[in-house]
Amino acid sequence: MAVPIGTAQSDREECPPNVPEGSSGQLSLSHTNVNFPYAEQFIDFRQDLSMAQTILIGGGGDDYSIQQGLNLKYANRHGLVAGATGTGKTVTLQIMAEGFSNAGVPVILTDVKGDLSGLAKAGSAENKLHGAFASRCQKIGFDSFSYHACPVTFWDLFGQQGHPVRTTVAEMGPLLLARLLELSEAQEGILNIAFRLADTEGLPLLDLKDLQSMLVWIGENRDQLSLRYGNVSTSSIGAIQRRLLVLENQGGDKLFGEPALALSDLIRCNSEGKGMVNILAADKLMAAPGLYATFLLWLLSELFEELPEVGDPDKPKLVFFFDEAHLLFDDAPKALVDKVEQVARLIRSKGVGIYFVTQNPADVPEDILGQLGNRIQHALRAFTARDRKNLKMAAETYRENPRFSTETAIREVGVGEAVTSMLMKKGVPGVVERTLIRPPSSQLGPITAAERAEVMTSSDMAGKYDKVLDRRSAYEILSEKAQAAAVEAEAVETQAEDQPSMEREYQSARRYTGHRVSRSSSRMTRSRDSFGSAISEAVIKELKGTTGRRLVRGILGGLFKGR
Ligand SMILES: Nc1ncnc2c1ncn2[C@@H]1O[C@H](COP(=O)(O)OP(=O)(O)OP(=O)(O)O)[C@@H](O)[C@H]1O
Ligand SMILES: [Mg+2]
Repeated sequence: MAVPIGTAQSDREECPPNVPEGSSGQLSLSHTNVNFPYAEQFIDFRQDLSMAQTILIGGGGDDYSIQQGLNLKYANRHGLVAGATGTGKTVTLQIMAEGFSNAGVPVILTDVKGDLSGLAKAGSAENKLHGAFASRCQKIGFDSFSYHACPVTFWDLFGQQGHPVRTTVAEMGPLLLARLLELSEAQEGILNIAFRLADTEGLPLLDLKDLQSMLVWIGENRDQLSLRYGNVSTSSIGAIQRRLLVLENQGGDKLFGEPALALSDLIRCNSEGKGMVNILAADKLMAAPGLYATFLLWLLSELFEELPEVGDPDKPKLVFFFDEAHLLFDDAPKALVDKVEQVARLIRSKGVGIYFVTQNPADVPEDILGQLGNRIQHALRAFTARDRKNLKMAAETYRENPRFSTETAIREVGVGEAVTSMLMKKGVPGVVERTLIRPPSSQLGPITAAERAEVMTSSDMAGKYDKVLDRRSAYEILSEKAQAAAVEAEAVETQAEDQPSMEREYQSARRYTGHRVSRSSSRMTRSRDSFGSAISEAVIKELKGTTGRRLVRGILGGLFKGR
């Protein structure tokens, strides 16, 4: 029997402005099927439901029968999924991704452990967890639960677990690159010069070798450049080169190049109007958290720059989930955290929601935490004094429910259960609720490598990004110039070698006419001769030594001519 695997549709579809009520099937809540015994408490939520769609999260109340939804209208006001290990964070992320996709909202998520690939395949009644899922659905009154897959596109910076994701050095820009490489102010200044010169000299910076050759060129021409831009030291250039080498060793070279990712390939729906779920393989990225953080930040910045201002749309244009979000912030320089905070604050009005998934809310910097309106808090442990402090702090951020103590609830909730608070009308946080989270419709746990390959080959992204396109850019142009200079230098040398015989001829001709040859002119010829061969030797040595990868001192100074 064929495996029902979700694939990208071949027709590119604009996401519909709003999915009609009920078209998101069993996942959509409408106020008609919600039971409200705690009318006063939920009155705002009910009003919200009549206004806009929600996606089902689970069931709350004493017997878990009151369905809890995430209001799509406020889903761009970001969110947090937190909880100790094994408490159900990733499954919650999975059901939220399903809900958004069903509502026609494209999703990007980072898959740290590979377990989110199950989104591409329908769950099965044959699975051993089916019984547990069925009784969970019964408890929360989720009668229309069914198994289905989501349309998934797999991406991978390393091009193995998904289609390659690339950007160019130029698109990344000096600011983010300096952050990624953790450069000092002086080094960042040199990087700025490199970008500036690349622009003015028409030397496109696409991949890492473009940047590397650009830096070599700056080194070779640092005297002239220092006059124009202030001190350009070789030690700073060397430091940047070394950092680039580290980045290259981490696989960063794969991130830079063409074809660069088009954002429109992330923000799309399939022909049925379901949002594509873009799964970014992040297992290997964990070994390179700096690269991971910078790439994600670049993506956010790009989205921020490219997307139009939309205010608060009826549903988000795109939702981003960062699983194991602490990796974004661990040891991150303050400037990077500030940037994430800034982007998170501003990107909301572009209709992009960001959801951080992490063990402890304290993992997320306070300024960012304050912006996360929709919250799902799974159990937190309270073994140590510090745990208890964190738990108390987490509890204090919720709007209290008179029925229970938030702090106790966070400690007591079981696996796949959480303390939830969603934004309601006018973006006011809802009263905290103890919610049993709905089970996923897609497969819980990873799909096989063969199934992943099948999704990848049937995706309409197949073939678009898989091959690197090495266009003529800074590296090639500078190498060509170096080669041209080498040829020219060789010509000068040959000419210089011929010079003595020509000179003899000239002299004999002079002798014939009875004139003397000036000594100074022959000295000049000799010095030009030795200069020419010096360049030529250097060029040949350099080109041979590094198979033409490096440039030669001084010979490219001509690039400044005519400026
Ligand atoms: N909503 C749910 N419905 C049904 N089962 C669930 C649900 N949430 C969690 N579970 C069960 O709990 C297990 C652990 O959940 P999950 O992997 O999401 O935990 P986690 O918090 O992400 O853990 P880790 O910190 O190790 O990544 C799941 O494999 C599943 O069996
Ligand atoms: Mg997890």
